Amino acid sequence: MINKLGITCLVRCALSAVIITVVLGCDKTEQNKISISSPDNNIILEFDNSNFNMAYSIIHKNDTLISNANLGFEFKNIPSLKSNLEIKDFQVTEANETWEQPWGQNRLVRDHHKRLLVHLEEKESLRKLSLEFKVFNDGVGFRYLVPEQEKIDSVNIMNELTEFAFTKEHEAWHIPAFFHGKYEQYYKKSKLGAIETAETPITIKTLNGKFISLHEAALVDYSSMALKTTQAGTLKSELYAWQDGVKVKLKTPFKTPWRTIQIGDKPGDLIESNLIINLNEPNKLGDVSWVNPMKYIGIWWGIHIGNWTWNPGPNVGATTENTKKYIDFAAKYGFDEVLVEGWNEGFEEDWHSDWGPNQNFTKPHDRYDLRGLQDYAMSKDVTIQAYNETCANTTNFLNQIDDAFKLYEDLGYKSVKVGHVNRILDTKEFHHSQYGVSYFNKVVEKGAQYHLAINFHEAIKPTGLRRTYPNLVARESARGQEFNAWGENGGNPPEHLTILPFTRLLGGPMDFTPGIFQIDIPQQEHNQVNTTLCKQLALYVVIYSPIQMAADLIENYEKRLDAFQFIRDVPVNWETTKILDAQIGDYIVTARKDINSEDWFLGAITDAHSRTLEITLDFLEAGTYEAQIYRDSDAADYAQNPMAYIIESQDVSNTDVLKIKLARSGGLAIRFKKK
Ligand code: NOJ
Ligand code: CA
Repeated sequence: MINKLGITCLVRCALSAVIITVVLGCDKTEQNKISISSPDNNIILEFDNSNFNMAYSIIHKNDTLISNANLGFEFKNIPSLKSNLEIKDFQVTEANETWEQPWGQNRLVRDHHKRLLVHLEEKESLRKLSLEFKVFNDGVGFRYLVPEQEKIDSVNIMNELTEFAFTKEHEAWHIPAFFHGKYEQYYKKSKLGAIETAETPITIKTLNGKFISLHEAALVDYSSMALKTTQAGTLKSELYAWQDGVKVKLKTPFKTPWRTIQIGDKPGDLIESNLIINLNEPNKLGDVSWVNPMKYIGIWWGIHIGNWTWNPGPNVGATTENTKKYIDFAAKYGFDEVLVEGWNEGFEEDWHSDWGPNQNFTKPHDRYDLRGLQDYAMSKDVTIQAYNETCANTTNFLNQIDDAFKLYEDLGYKSVKVGHVNRILDTKEFHHSQYGVSYFNKVVEKGAQYHLAINFHEAIKPTGLRRTYPNLVARESARGQEFNAWGENGGNPPEHLTILPFTRLLGGPMDFTPGIFQIDIPQQEHNQVNTTLCKQLALYVVIYSPIQMAADLIENYEKRLDAFQFIRDVPVNWETTKILDAQIGDYIVTARKDINSEDWFLGAITDAHSRTLEITLDFLEAGTYEAQIYRDSDAADYAQNPMAYIIESQDVSNTDVLKIKLARSGGLAIRFKKK
């Protein structure tokens, strides 16, 4: 459907069965609006070019959430592109398809949306800009498309003017933006107006109890969008800059990442939403049967708690002897990979400094038998997971990446963990700058070339690129388990994990590395994991990732093989996911169905408050299940008695309700085994 200026019309859109009112040309300076609704009609997106000023509004169930939010760009040396544009034509289409993920929290994903493509042109200078909106039942995405044109060739974007103008002073959970390399912070809850800067995803609870997440999808060759408050209730896009102050350097044609607004009636709706992956391009890699969801152990926690070192001195963790023990344990208990940190040359120096020392990614130190260990692992159906600590020196890493990744592929490795400790990339650029975005995407493409799955640490936030590159299996990009070993203030507070699923995890899988069983960490006088043991088990269900680590020392698992059984049983790839109950920052109850069996798994965690959950089992299919329950014992408490748990089993069906108490910062893990 195409409309030209000068026509006043009321158009009924045949595809969508909603009324689309288009009033163009009657009074060009006053009326210039196009609206489309979501397939279920609950969300209306209105594009308004009245007074030749681009803006959009979002109405959810008759409730105006975002009103007249501005759009546009400011450039270096050429005029801004924000006003004085006319709608030349537009199209509305509808798509409704279901696609299958190679791995994910749901096997099948439905993509049902209406799309509005608006073509605009500046009145005098005739510069062109298009806007593309997609309205789903669970929210809205939109992006800018700047076509190839004579008057805009290379551009330096100095400011993206996109606003999210809320009509009220809602509350939000956010982390501040523009800390060098530090996406690893605690989420804070505050009024929108109290936010200075925020990273996305930011999650908002409206005054009337709805839940909204602002984020972006398909962040490619652009800088990352943070937000800043411009007036109470209004957040504006604030892009990360290059060192020279330019935000984005591009040539036309180009398109921006999608700006996304997910909307739910309940907190769990945000987690069940597929909007972010639906806005990413389909799989570009073709056959990805070489990417395997998997569980791993590693020479890792022992370094963080101070038993071993990365440095190849007398206490180095990555020795041939030690790694063999981990390989034996992995083979015995069914783990696919063993991560080994500190195996290569380069940890000798002070690698925690901003100059980013030159690590060698192909050369092992002399106490680590690179080939012998991988041969030994493969003889037991296990593989080593490579570790590359780039020290944020990406130039050094990219110089070696072909040699290193080729070596790993030849050895038979399947995945690489790539770390970026240090504040800035190459001593100059932000991780979240266009420079950083391009770097991280380049590593994923190189991984694909050499059939390696990538697990990033200290990476940029996830924006759903795993759909396009399914070898991008996970990343850290949040405050993970490591802080519990050495973080100031004694580790992550109990509520941290009840916020993460509704904020950072909306972007994609996290390598949080759960599973600490020795919770008081005798080696670390001032640190303790603020959790019960059952909360650690529950995290394997609550935190979605196709790779999950059993992070503790293997001897701590050998002491508690009964509880360890849950980690052995829990899958990492799911047929479907349901959030049964949740309040952000308080608790969450997640149920997921195994992709390979009829079993369901449940994980529930709570903040610093003990609470009794009543869990209705109506998500189960018909029939009897053996519920294998791992719960906090009545005496359990994260501060006083964190390792007290009870394992029991009972037969249940989908008409039952389980009533179970979680200790302070406690958890609950259940396997529902179909009988
Ligand atoms: C930080 C990563 O998050 C952690 O997993 C890794 O062990 C250290 N850097 C060392 O590179
Ligand atoms: Ca980290």
